[in-house]
Amino acid sequence: MENLIFDAHAHYDDEKFDSDRDELISSLPEKGVFAVVNNGVDIETSLKSIELAEKYPYFYAAVGIHPESVADLDISKIDEYISQIAGLLSHKKVVAIGETGIDYHWDIPKAEQHIVFQKQLELSKDTGVPIIIHDREAHGDVTEYLRKYRPYGLMHCYSGSAELLKEVLRLGDMRISLGGAVTFKNARVPVEVAREVPMDRLLLETDSPYLAPVPFRGKRCDSSLIIHTAERIAEIRGMTVEDVLKYTKENASKFFLNT
Ligand code: NI
Repeated sequence: MENLIFDAHAHYDDEKFDSDRDELISSLPEKGVFAVVNNGVDIETSLKSIELAEKYPYFYAAVGIHPESVADLDISKIDEYISQIAGLLSHKKVVAIGETGIDYHWDIPKAEQHIVFQKQLELSKDTGVPIIIHDREAHGDVTEYLRKYRPYGLMHCYSGSAELLKEVLRLGDMRISLGGAVTFKNARVPVEVAREVPMDRLLLETDSPYLAPVPFRGKRCDSSLIIHTAERIAEIRGMTVEDVLKYTKENASKFFLNT
């Protein structure tokens, strides 16, 4: 069978992969993986994402500044950071800006998060390169920015309600990616979202090494485990697993690779 897993969001530069990164990544195609987008969270990991994408033909890179990285930035130099990110967009394996967004779970200065997010929304608008958005406990403010910028982007590990989903899809040319959370026991809202998201807007992701789906919850995640998320979504939507994988691969290929 052809490889059908397109992992829209992962972090293989994470130290949890230090002991066996090359071996693991090399084994992914034989486990059904077609492509992986590795996401940077700052300049250093954006460069590492590009390195991985240069090494493995089925890897692509997203480059950007994550809200959790904002605490380590000298905000007076934000324009320098953004022009460094902008400089990376011409690399042929760079397919998105991200991950970026807003995170109110951690105690990170809000005003600075907003500046860094807005600058990347502007960069995405100016260049036409899609943006990958992280929204953790910040639905209200993220929605305001969607309203303002109407981006072409992806809500990664979408965690809002099915009702908010309709709004999000109206406010930009947005895709929704779902990960392991949909398989968790007591996952009520993610299940509702998995049922409601229009099939042509749905992508799958792992956020590896985090958020492994059941039955691997709590363990280190890798892209091959997407099969468990796809199985759950197939069950929820009354589709075959193969169709879920096919549609999401097609959607991700169009979104990231223009193919
Ligand atoms: Ni992530």
